[in-house]
Amino acid sequence: MNSQGEVEIRLATPEEAPLVHSVTLDAFAEYRNLPTPSGALSESLEDVEGLMREGVEQAALCLVDGVAVGSVRFLRSKDGLYFKRLAVRPGFRRRGIARAIVGWLEEYARQNGESVVWCNVRAEIQQNVRLYASLGYEAYDERVVVRSDGARVPVVSMRKAVKPGAEARRDSATGWGGALPGRGW
Ligand SMILES: CC(C)(COP(=O)(O)OP(=O)(O)OC[C@H]1O[C@@H](n2cnc3c(N)ncnc32)[C@H](O)[C@@H]1OP(=O)(O)O)[C@@H](O)C(=O)NCCC(=O)NCCS
Repeated sequence: MNSQGEVEIRLATPEEAPLVHSVTLDAFAEYRNLPTPSGALSESLEDVEGLMREGVEQAALCLVDGVAVGSVRFLRSKDGLYFKRLAVRPGFRRRGIARAIVGWLEEYARQNGESVVWCNVRAEIQQNVRLYASLGYEAYDERVVVRSDGARVPVVSMRKAVKPGAEARRDSATGWGGALPGRGW
């Protein structure tokens, strides 16, 4: 990682929900003016804290010299480890922090017996689709999600095999047939 300072990525405790929430808000603020703003911006601290306390979700934090600059939330689903709200504060971007957090998640998944890591990405935010593709994630589904507020959001589902002891490669034998037809990333 091209990052100055001491970098630590670790699980967040429920007491650290305020840090997770504030990093997320800071990172997703850039989507405030989209026609359909990110749902991350309307989540309250109580929402996030409740999910973490009840064990519905877990979160990880990335700290640089002890300061929280990145976060992600995740849960174990029937399809593997699902993550969302990957977030890096604007002042700390393009240093490989998001890549490192995703790498940490993959290792966490392996150590906990999961063989797949997956996420949903807004189809319109192509740089995020490219980010995950560059990390070995395959797009395998595309659909319109209808949010609880009625907003319709086209999303791409992306996943990666993380077999214990064997790093999966994007072009390797995942058996998942590559990117969606007609998509030129
Ligand atoms: C997306 C996000 C987490 C990336 O964080 P980051 O720490 O800057 O990412 P990295 O430094 O690990 O970058 C990895 C690669 O992603 C790509 N990338 C990241 N941000 C990019 C941008 N703004 N434009 C184009 N490519 C970008 C690049 O390929 C980059 O590699 P490079 O720097 O070697 O070119 C961060 O920009 C963010 O918090 N955005 C707002 C929230 C969000 O969209 N989260 C993802 C939801 S799916």
